[in-house]
Amino acid sequence: MILRGGKPLIGEVSLRGAKNALPKIMVAALLTNEKCTLRNVARIVDVTIVSDLIRALGGEVQELEDGVLEICAANLRPMERGTLKEFSGKSRIPILTCGPLLARFGAAPVPSLGGCRIGTRPVDFHIRALQDLGATLEDSAHDAHLRCERLLGTKIRLDYPSVGATEQVILAAVCAEGVTELSNAAMEPEIMDLIMVLQKMGSIISVDVDRVITIVGVRKLHGFDHTALPDRLEAASWACAAIATQGRIFVRNAKQFHMMTFLNRYRQIGGEYRVTNEGIEFWRAEEKLRSTALETDVHPGFTTDYQQPFVIALTQAEGISIVHETVYEQRFGYVDALNRMGAKIQLYRECLGGLKCRFGQRNYRHSAVIVGPTPLRGAEIEIPDLRAGFSYVIAALAAQGDSTLTNTGLIERGYENLVPKLCALGAEILE
Ligand code: EPZ
Repeated sequence: MILRGGKPLIGEVSLRGAKNALPKIMVAALLTNEKCTLRNVARIVDVTIVSDLIRALGGEVQELEDGVLEICAANLRPMERGTLKEFSGKSRIPILTCGPLLARFGAAPVPSLGGCRIGTRPVDFHIRALQDLGATLEDSAHDAHLRCERLLGTKIRLDYPSVGATEQVILAAVCAEGVTELSNAAMEPEIMDLIMVLQKMGSIISVDVDRVITIVGVRKLHGFDHTALPDRLEAASWACAAIATQGRIFVRNAKQFHMMTFLNRYRQIGGEYRVTNEGIEFWRAEEKLRSTALETDVHPGFTTDYQQPFVIALTQAEGISIVHETVYEQRFGYVDALNRMGAKIQLYRECLGGLKCRFGQRNYRHSAVIVGPTPLRGAEIEIPDLRAGFSYVIAALAAQGDSTLTNTGLIERGYENLVPKLCALGAEILE
């Protein structure tokens, strides 16, 4: 993609279902033989991957109309090695089928994982949680399998509030015998949406303020009809594009409730927003953006997926900003290309912030210092991961001159209709 920068983005884009919710809700449909209807489905790669995976397992996925999927797992069969190999490496979602497959068949192969290159992203929390629930891991040289007679509710404490591991436990425990108490759980809005789907299906799940999620196992789950929550991460990306290009963007369907921490930080650096029932309008209120000191954290903290587009905006802020990335050890890989565009960002191994962090002194450059404002110039850029990909698009649009972005397919993974949306906002796409 060749983008010509220097023009403000002005206009409207609309959000559909959240990339980090839709695939998990589709996996929940494997827990029942009844038809499930999912609405507000975005045409993104992760949805396609999970649709193909469900079909490969004998399930049915039909598109009833644009944005509405009907899923039926009545004819689901155990996953063969071959099936899994085909899907391993494409996405992190297949690991979440372990719970439902163990619940139905007492067996589940453990996939190797794909997803963005932003750290090692192990699955030890997932495996340990399933073992706590009664599964045994048969780990041979080249593949691993989980087996269980039945899943038994138990107390599980996560070492870290992992989104995926929390979803894994919930999906496995809803049909386990007895009660499962999960502590130090993640509480992201996408997880609450998954819990609401499971509640519609007949499960009994409570969420306490101290990160404890209690799941009372039930014998049978029914189908669901659910409209997925909108993608707060895409909304935040457009908000950052608005202030980085001095534009004004109305993001239809954005919900204030999901973005409260982001909105606070956005206003603190000089962004402004107006909330309506239909969505949120974002623009740059101040001539000069203000620098800030920021730490990413699990929800309700400043989500790590907001970090990359936010840093682009901070390159245009007056003064020195500090960002301490505490969720992933290597989520500043995109900074080299930004510096080639004229940004002044330096990375540090130290924890530059007060939050307890797992990466201090472990040789990960997970803190960034950003000196601004720095005018950006167009450059040749290869997209390393999804959120950085969108951030490069924002940087290219804020830069003077033309930028050539390659490997933009990675962005299509999570952002539906990216090019039409950019054109609707007045972006100049030369190719
Ligand atoms: C989900 O990934 C999201 N992906 C990520 O979004 C998001 O950044 C992340 O949650 C954190 O919010 C999807 O939902 C598909 P984690 P997930 O388990 O579940 C460590 C995007 O751009 N960890 O919460 O894989 C892990 O290494 C993507 O949309 C273990 O050590 O994230 C990381 O440091 C990027 N062992 C931390 O926990 C485990 O078994 C948080 O990871 C699992 C995780």
